[in-house]
Amino acid sequence: MLDIVQNSLNAGAALIHIEVDEQEQADTLIVRVADDGSGMPPELVAKVTDPFVTTRTTRKVGLGLPLFMQGAKAADGDFSIQSEVGKGTRLCATYRRSHIDRQPVGDMAGTVQTLVLCNPDTDFVYTRRLNNRSFTLDTRELRRALGGEVPLNAPEVQAWIRDYLIEGEKGLLEVSDR
Ligand SMILES: Nc1ncnc2c1ncn2[C@@H]1O[C@H](COP(=O)(O)OP(=O)(O)OP(=O)(O)O)[C@@H](O)[C@H]1O
Ligand SMILES: [Mg+2]
Repeated sequence: MLDIVQNSLNAGAALIHIEVDEQEQADTLIVRVADDGSGMPPELVAKVTDPFVTTRTTRKVGLGLPLFMQGAKAADGDFSIQSEVGKGTRLCATYRRSHIDRQPVGDMAGTVQTLVLCNPDTDFVYTRRLNNRSFTLDTRELRRALGGEVPLNAPEVQAWIRDYLIEGEKGLLEVSDR
């Protein structure tokens, strides 16, 4: 996740949406990342989504997206990318949740906290869904509430963000209608 969001940061994104959506009945995990960065021309989009055989010949393209795609495909899922120069990029990876090779979601609370801490001038909208429950951290709202005087990486704000994310995740599990 950090790898993928780093691409958005490198592309100069001011606002990055991250969504992790788990549906137990449908047996799906869906991860979406959308940014308003510089985007990619169609030729590059075609290259970065090329299967491994062809990316080998274009090594300079890097491994972030191929690995993200491979992780989804290995778990009976799919990967899609939409990008427009000057507008931004949207990635969507789907996984069969129960697949033995499905990568674990991991510590998303820690990941999102780290992203905000290290990029206090970028806005993040993080949404976590489990079945019919969800919670969202929107740093734009946080910024407004703080009145522009306290940066998002201030220790007391970071502590609040951490608690909010941990409590939010706990809440999802408690009320989950499994
Ligand atoms: N969100 C994005 N916005 C704009 N361009 C992107 C985005 N994501 C990827 N790209 C382009 O696609 C290329 C390939 O991305 P990928 O993550 O696969 O490799 P990388 O970032 O170059 O290297 P690595 O991730 O291995 O350090 C990037 O170099 C960049 O040009
Ligand atoms: Mg990358």
